[in-house]
Amino acid sequence: MINKVVQISKIAGEIIREGFGKNFSIEYKTNLSNLVTEIDKKSEEAIINFVKKEFPTHSVLAEETGSHKASSEYLWVVDPLDGTSNFAHGFPIFSVSIGVQKNNETVCGVVYDVMNDIVYSSEKGSGSFRNGQKLQVSTNDDIRKSMIVTGFPYNVTENPDHVFERFIAFLKTARAVRRLGSAAIDFCYVASGVFDGFWEVHLNPWDVCAGKLIVEEAGGLVTNFAGESTDIYSKQILATNGKVHKKMVEILQLNN
Ligand code: IPD
Ligand code: CA
Ligand code: CA
Repeated sequence: MINKVVQISKIAGEIIREGFGKNFSIEYKTNLSNLVTEIDKKSEEAIINFVKKEFPTHSVLAEETGSHKASSEYLWVVDPLDGTSNFAHGFPIFSVSIGVQKNNETVCGVVYDVMNDIVYSSEKGSGSFRNGQKLQVSTNDDIRKSMIVTGFPYNVTENPDHVFERFIAFLKTARAVRRLGSAAIDFCYVASGVFDGFWEVHLNPWDVCAGKLIVEEAGGLVTNFAGESTDIYSKQILATNGKVHKKMVEILQLNN
């Protein structure tokens, strides 16, 4: 199955690459920050058509068109373009993120970094890979020497779940804090050992499904802000190398 997931991620990536920097229509979802472009929709359509053709009994949960229920225990969780704001502004960090679950357990995940042509992939129990090379999280255990990453939900101005306070707390503690704009890629940089940790509130299952498995299979840990295990529907996500996890939980708890 993983080969099929890689195949369709690359096909979707090609659609996105072709649209990058061109004229495309934009619509607003909840506010002026929350965009969807015609390219998001085209990418999603290609992925759904692919699943319907190759795996007609599989269900799909996709960001732009929601739930497509079928009969089997498999569910494809799809973000057709993660990093739409970056894409729309010409900033070349965005991805296709596809996780496949069997009976609510993620069995494989692919994040395709479109402009760098990098495939991050993982199958449950078999490790994580970046263009075929095995991934391992970092070994750093000191938050003061960490580079960490976060993102913000589209209702950030309402300060949901104390995002501002938590951001400030990490700015004061870590060596460096980054905000890339594609949650799926944030997970992959943790899996690659580039970032030591990633936290965000109010992500959606399609932001989390593939990336969570990729981090876990690279030796990392993914929990909620209390350090408890979570599923892909959790409204708090903390993904780390495992070594800075406790310290990051401590800081997140201080800001509850
Ligand atoms: C967004 C990106 C971003 C994160 C937002 C997501 P989208 O996804 O992953 O990094 O901070 O919370 O909604 O809307 O570009 O698919
Ligand atoms: Ca997303
Ligand atoms: Ca998206």
